[in-house]
Amino acid sequence: MDLPARNYCEPGPRATAFGAERLDREQIGAIERQVIATARLPLRQAVTLPRAAYVNEDYFRHEAGKVLASGWICLAHVSQLKQAGSYLALDLLDEPLLVTRAPDGPVRVLSRVCPHRGADIMHPGFGVAPRGVAKRLVCPYHVWSFGLDGKLKTCAEMQRAEAFDKKDWALVELRSAVWEGFVFVNLDGTASPLAEQYADFAKVVAPWNCAEMEVAIELDWECEFNWKVMVENWMESYHHMGIHHDTLQTTMPAKMTWTEAENPHFIRCHLPFKQAVADELMEAIAEGRPIPGFRPIEGLTLRDHVEWGLYLGHPCFMFLTMRDRVLWYRLQPISAERCRLMTATLVSKRATQAPDFAETVERETRMLAEFHAQDMKVNTAVQAGLRSSRAVQGRLSHLEEPVWMIQRYVAARLQGCHPGMDRLR
Ligand SMILES: [Fe+2]
Repeated sequence: MDLPARNYCEPGPRATAFGAERLDREQIGAIERQVIATARLPLRQAVTLPRAAYVNEDYFRHEAGKVLASGWICLAHVSQLKQAGSYLALDLLDEPLLVTRAPDGPVRVLSRVCPHRGADIMHPGFGVAPRGVAKRLVCPYHVWSFGLDGKLKTCAEMQRAEAFDKKDWALVELRSAVWEGFVFVNLDGTASPLAEQYADFAKVVAPWNCAEMEVAIELDWECEFNWKVMVENWMESYHHMGIHHDTLQTTMPAKMTWTEAENPHFIRCHLPFKQAVADELMEAIAEGRPIPGFRPIEGLTLRDHVEWGLYLGHPCFMFLTMRDRVLWYRLQPISAERCRLMTATLVSKRATQAPDFAETVERETRMLAEFHAQDMKVNTAVQAGLRSSRAVQGRLSHLEEPVWMIQRYVAARLQGCHPGMDRLR
């Protein structure tokens, strides 16, 4: 038999010799110790994590189990599942998942793995829409069908299977929680309750009333970089003066951004507008002049109008408040050098009813895409650099305090605790 000319096992361009290098337990442990030692440095001596933590696949799997699967990962916003029977399929760390709203109400996270022969019931190969509204979820293999609550409804020709009871063969439900309208999953089921972890976070973002907001813009991005490259980029505003010099820096100069004291479960940064921009905005508000953007959120403080609030809910819930919207970035880490990202804009219900809503969405989609494209470019360049044997552990600026805090979170989770707790050895 003729073999195809192409070797289908050939490593792709991302699988560099180092990234693909198989590591034994000892070698993974050595990287972990380096990560922990790096995170233990005080901010004034802080350096970036060792490059192996960004490029090696075996280390990624190790880290995914200890840092990601043990945390709460955001999958959806309730406005994406408004109708009874809504579903949304997405993959997270090799788990095919389904977020559903069954007619009886609650939002659930289910596994898409058929309890019959193990098929992903909505594998892309089946051509099923990854989002929609349905009465039943059907596995195309042998047409076993399930309710939106995961319960097995129909299965043909099973009458001779001894002691077979349909109620024993539901889609597996994963541990989930809804926080401020965002649906989270905890893959390994060990995390402390999300409401406890994000209690202080909920207090500071309460005025935006996120549970009542609507997703107005969604953009999808395929990312050729490690998940930490994304969250580090998201949280530090030092780079406004670099890659965003013509966009964000003109309103929120890097130098003026600052970070609040460490919280074990989230990071909060303030991105104040420069004085001239703040003055102009306040003047426009006082005079009732139109201001670009969506209808503002009601009940915000003066300060909420003249700064952006930047947050990271550990491990990877990227969230940002503005006077008229919130941004939410959903991250799905895939491998050491790949992740999928959705950048979403949420606005108030009142904003969606404005006569110029469609035009505003169009304009703001361009704005979001423009500055995020700058981040995509720079993150891809960072990953390319980290692949090189010449990559060193670089020094951090005080403006990169959130990067240091992310390191402290990762290091703490590798040791089974949270930053600031005594168990961080
Ligand atoms: Fe950026």
